[in-house]
This record gives sequence, C-alpha cells and structure tokens, in this order.
Amino acid sequence: MTTISIGHVSKRFGPPGTAPVLGDIELEIPEGQFVALLGSSGCGKTTLLRIVGGLESATSGQVSIGGHPVTGGGADRRKALSDVGFVFQEHNLLPWRSALRNVQLPLAQRRMPARERVEVARQMLELVSLGHAERRLPHELSGGMRQRVAIARALSYDPAVLLMDEPFGALDAQTRDNLNLELQRIWLEKQKTVVFVTHSIQEAVFLADRVVVMQAGPGRVVADVTIDLERPRGVDVMATARFAEYTGVLREALTHGPAADGAHGTNGAVA
Ligand SMILES: Nc1ncnc2c1ncn2[C@@H]1O[C@H](COP(=O)(O)OP(=O)(O)O)[C@@H](O)[C@H]1O
Ligand SMILES: [Mg+2]
Repeated sequence: MTTISIGHVSKRFGPPGTAPVLGDIELEIPEGQFVALLGSSGCGKTTLLRIVGGLESATSGQVSIGGHPVTGGGADRRKALSDVGFVFQEHNLLPWRSALRNVQLPLAQRRMPARERVEVARQMLELVSLGHAERRLPHELSGGMRQRVAIARALSYDPAVLLMDEPFGALDAQTRDNLNLELQRIWLEKQKTVVFVTHSIQEAVFLADRVVVMQAGPGRVVADVTIDLERPRGVDVMATARFAEYTGVLREALTHGPAADGAHGTNGAVA
C-alpha cells in the first residue's frame, strides 16, 4: 500500500514564465518506509516537503496521503493532513509552555480530554527519553532536548506520516549521532512512514531505507538508492565498507546527477 503518492508535482513561486523551483517530481512512498530526501541547499527539498504536508500549494500535479488528496480542498485534504506530523529545523515550541504542555498542544487542538491528554503527552516524553524534564520550559532544555520534545509533539496524535525538515541540522555532531540513534529506535517501535530532509550524506545513509537525491535547476530527482543495511544500526556501521560504498554512490549522484546512460537513479547499485 502506498502511503504518499507524489504525481508530476511542479512548483514556481513567480508568475507564469518564471523558472520553476520544482520540475516534475514523481515519487511513491510505501507505508512504513523511512525515506531521506538528500540534496544541496536550494534544490527544493523544503518546498517539496511543504507541498506534501499541505503547507504550500503545487503549481501542477497531485499529492495524496493514504489515498486522500492533499492538493485538493475540503474533507479529503483535512483527512489526509490529520495523518501528518511535522518536525522542523527550528523546534517551534511555545516558549512559555513546559515540555509537557507543548506536547499536549496538538491533542488540545484535537479536543482530547485534559486527563487523557496529559497521559498521552507523558508517554510521548518517555518515548523520547525526556520523562524527567516534563516541567522544564524550552529555554531550560538543550538544543537536542528541544528537538526531542518537537518529535514527541509530532508523534502525540499518532500520525501515520512524519515529515522532518533537517530536524538535527543545527545540532553538534555528537548530539546529532545520538538523536539519529534515538530516531531509529522510535521508528523501529512505531513504524511510521518518514520523509526526512537532510543535506548530510552520512545521516541519510545511517537513517534511511531509501535515499532520494535531488538537484536544483529545476528541483528534480536524480537518483533513488535503496539502503540495504541491517537494523538496528549502530554508529559502528558508519565505519564499514558498505556504508562507504553507499556514501560514494550518493556523493557521485549529488555531484554529477543521473548516470550518463540516462538511467533514472541507481537503485540497489551497491552489492
Ligand atoms: N516562498 C518563496 N518564494 C519565493 N521563492 C522561494 C520561496 N521558498 C523557496 N523559494 C526558492 O525556492 C528554491 C528552493 O528552496 P527550498 O525548497 O527552501 O530549498 P532547500 O530546502 O532544498 O534548501 C530556492 O531557490 C528558494 O529561494
Ligand atoms: Mg530547506
């Protein structure tokens, strides 16, 4: 079953005639898959993620989630988007609300009764290993802890799809490694469909089942690589020859784009 279907999506911000930011994006993402969208700055990753999440309209093409069109209006769109959670590079937590109350926010918007809300929010903070910090305000948390609260908040209403836009991009390398391990653990437990935007090749290979490489001018998919590494993956996987092969293939795709024979992508290229 396909959870996310992106069909011939293009986007330009200016009037007709101006250069498109996204070309003709075609992507099918099956339920439960962890997909990394990899590309250099400005190639349209955020724009694509925002279109998938219904925060931005497409100039042409369709997106559907679980069979419900995001790009249409009305009840179908609401149904599609009720199943999506967002985590951005900036945590977007409300500064005057404790971690626990931040996580409760989407539940309150969904009119969950207060007692149940607190219970669910506590479970989510436990899931991201922050049970001890529920009373703290965002400024009393480290950058990594704030992103964990943002993940807990996005998961609180149990969406099938999690859209993450460089969520760990502003963190130091070690915190980032730790959060990548934590995210993998959560994903193995929850089996959400995840679209994870990053410009880090290492992060993409470490986390994903599949890495979709984008290039600018206009933003398009130039490679689609299946990452066949056993899970759970530990940080030691990054020192293996297979990991290095994958990062090599992806670096090549980022630099030179599609293979010279015109083949679309390099799926399963690493033996
Ligand atoms: N709201 C906007 N209005 C005009 N141009 C935009 C807007 N958002 C993004 N762009 C342009 O679209 C291109 C892709 O941006 P973006 O999706 O943010 O790329 P990425 O996330 O890969 O860095 C960039 O050239 C950017 O300047
Ligand atoms: Mg971006």
